[in-house]
Amino acid sequence: MDSEETTPSGSQIAVELNWSEPVGSALALLEDGALIEDDDDFAEYEAYMSVQNLEELIALRLESGPMAVAEYMRLIVAHPVLGYYATRDPFGKAGDFVTAPEVSQMFGELLGLWCAHVWGLMGSPKKVQLVELGPGRGTLMADALRACGQAAPSFLQAVNVHLIEVSPVLREKQKNAMSGHPVQWHDSLNTVPEGPMILLANEFFDAMPVHQLVKTQNGWCERQVYRAKDGGLKFTVDQRPSPLVSFLHPQVAVSGLGSIAEISPKSCAVARAIRKRLDQFGGVALVIDYGHETSATGETLQAIRHHQPHDILTHPGSADVTAHVDFGAVGRNISNRSVQVSGPVTQGFFLQRLGIIERAATLAKAQQPERQREIARQVERLTAVREMGELFKVMVAASKNLPVLPGFVP
Ligand SMILES: C[S@@+](CC[C@H](N)C(=O)[O-])C[C@H]1O[C@@H](n2cnc3c(N)ncnc32)[C@H](O)[C@@H]1O
Repeated sequence: MDSEETTPSGSQIAVELNWSEPVGSALALLEDGALIEDDDDFAEYEAYMSVQNLEELIALRLESGPMAVAEYMRLIVAHPVLGYYATRDPFGKAGDFVTAPEVSQMFGELLGLWCAHVWGLMGSPKKVQLVELGPGRGTLMADALRACGQAAPSFLQAVNVHLIEVSPVLREKQKNAMSGHPVQWHDSLNTVPEGPMILLANEFFDAMPVHQLVKTQNGWCERQVYRAKDGGLKFTVDQRPSPLVSFLHPQVAVSGLGSIAEISPKSCAVARAIRKRLDQFGGVALVIDYGHETSATGETLQAIRHHQPHDILTHPGSADVTAHVDFGAVGRNISNRSVQVSGPVTQGFFLQRLGIIERAATLAKAQQPERQREIARQVERLTAVREMGELFKVMVAASKNLPVLPGFVP
């Protein structure tokens, strides 16, 4: 499904949403450190400036020896000129995959109203930095802002929108999606102005590079990519124990021979950068992604092309490459004495708590039966256990002075 085909924008937002939690009158009215680690300049690839495509760049780089899976993933996903996101709009039927905001306008609307409500709980600061990490086509933010324009105009007036996006192609899409709203783009959280923050990250952390460590006789060793004699890319395992073993959760570290563990120091760095800002200026960060609640062994790295699984080593850069998010690790890095974590809860639970059923009913009112069925399908897609409802999880990090936030009350 593609939102351009299924969700007309501008539909009236429900003003009578009645969240099944004590969300207070705000809803009823309805009206540090680097995000990107220092490696984000890709300076070490300067020698290959004239290279025209990713396959060639990877081939040249591999002449000096194998590269860690994380380096391979980082090049594919985030190279600012040749990377997967830098060179295309991958969303929708004609692309490679569909995300929740692209399934239905309800997703962004509910998140927008959630932000407005949280802003009220924060004491309605005069200015709040509304930050989104990896906004894709800008659909989530556009739907959120539209909903708030109708139901929470005072929140909208307080908001400064900041988008952190690596892809020039997607920045252009975001500009179109949000025409009419002043927006600032950033390469990292570093340049977002000081002040209280509400941060959203939907399917951002799954794009962060992961290292794969394999438990061998020599200890935990790094899985690498190398170029075989026939010219193809293959996996190998370094013989030397990896210093990254310190990132393994103690329960994972004791796993048996042959186990694979994925760790994402980059995700941890992003989480710590968010924590630093929440610590300094207060606010919340909502992380939505697919992944596991606690750190565990297992291989989740995958490539998707045209909605189908794709061999990760074939035509690098032509498919989306992701790994499941270790919410345990993100949670440990994003929390401290003044920042507390709630969740993760399942996406199905979260959206139902926020009132997706009620919102769908309002949206479907006075619509043709076909459109009503379509809206029902969208709810199913976002919330059903066999669809996105269980695999996708929602976690929030919030200043400790805030109460348990909507969507997280047991
Ligand atoms: C799977 S898409 C999710 C898009 C959007 N949040 C949605 O739900 O539709 C990942 C997004 O993160 C961006 N991204 C990936 N790596 C990034 C990085 N290192 N820094 C900033 N943005 C990045 C991509 O360009 C894209 O916008």
